[in-house]
Amino acid sequence: MTDTHQPVRHAVVPSAGRGTRFLPATKAVPKEMLPVVDRPAIEYVVREATDAGIDDMLFVTRTGKEAIEAHFDADPGLEGDLEKAGKDELLSLATEYLGLARTHSVRQGHPLGLGHAVLQAKRHVGDAPFAVMLPDDLMHPDSVLLKQLIAVREAIGGSVVALLRVTPEQATAYASTSVTTIAVPEGVDVPEGNLMRIDKVVEKPPLDEVMSEYAVVGRYVFDPAIFDELEVIEPGAGGEYQLTDAFARLIDRPADQGGGLYGVVVEDRRFDTGDKLGYLEANVALALEHPKLGPALREFLHTELARTETAEA
Ligand code: UTP
Repeated sequence: MTDTHQPVRHAVVPSAGRGTRFLPATKAVPKEMLPVVDRPAIEYVVREATDAGIDDMLFVTRTGKEAIEAHFDADPGLEGDLEKAGKDELLSLATEYLGLARTHSVRQGHPLGLGHAVLQAKRHVGDAPFAVMLPDDLMHPDSVLLKQLIAVREAIGGSVVALLRVTPEQATAYASTSVTTIAVPEGVDVPEGNLMRIDKVVEKPPLDEVMSEYAVVGRYVFDPAIFDELEVIEPGAGGEYQLTDAFARLIDRPADQGGGLYGVVVEDRRFDTGDKLGYLEANVALALEHPKLGPALREFLHTELARTETAEA
């Protein structure tokens, strides 16, 4: 019997992918370590998780991704030097995020797909609900999405995923859903109309099989029953073990065995930092909001746009 009230304390961050969309930058540097403004993308993910009450992070990694773990290590040499030099602001930047959560990692020896990556978390997470956060999906630091997914899980059980409004063409690159709007339970801070029961989900459908404007994006809260499903799925789209194929099976699973699949519509800003343009957009948008960098960047962008417009005329 699944305990709905068990708090969500773990987040699994699949980080073992190859990042081919971002070559050549990602040949020797993990894409999770590419800076967004002044810190690696992975740090935003950890901050988002801890803001939502999660205190245990599990990175699923592979050879070449060691820098992710190193970013969350203390560095007494560096810290001592900064302290001696009185560089308090830099010292704070290098250390303020270290105590946010316990970080762990597990290897995915072969990149057999996102479903296979999440299955590597089974031993660590055990019989507890947990979040999965895809680091390519960078949420604006003010986002409440993960908190909303957790609140829905704690109110009605089952598993809860993020649903992005997309065009039919865009939907072919995601998991497309067929949904029914349901009432938001009392005490859950999700706008009425934004909570769905998912009745069907298909990974990367052809255009004529797209079911709605709602596609699943990289924030999920799963009942541990997902592990049973991940163990029985066969390779799907692209020959990979698809996470979608496993959570699709939760739709028909009885609620008292961890079944049920729900979606919350994403209203917060999200950037696809696994894509070159999305990465640039994230950098510009967040840098413009940065108290020190924003004003000068705004001025630079005005000048630069005027310069390119003159050059084009
Ligand atoms: P993607 O397929 O979007 O990411 O996987 P990728 O493979 O890193 O990037 P591209 O498409 O080649 O540019 C979604 C998420 O699942 C992880 C990735 O790291 C990413 O966070 N993943 C994917 C794994 O951890 N293991 C896998 O076998 C596949």
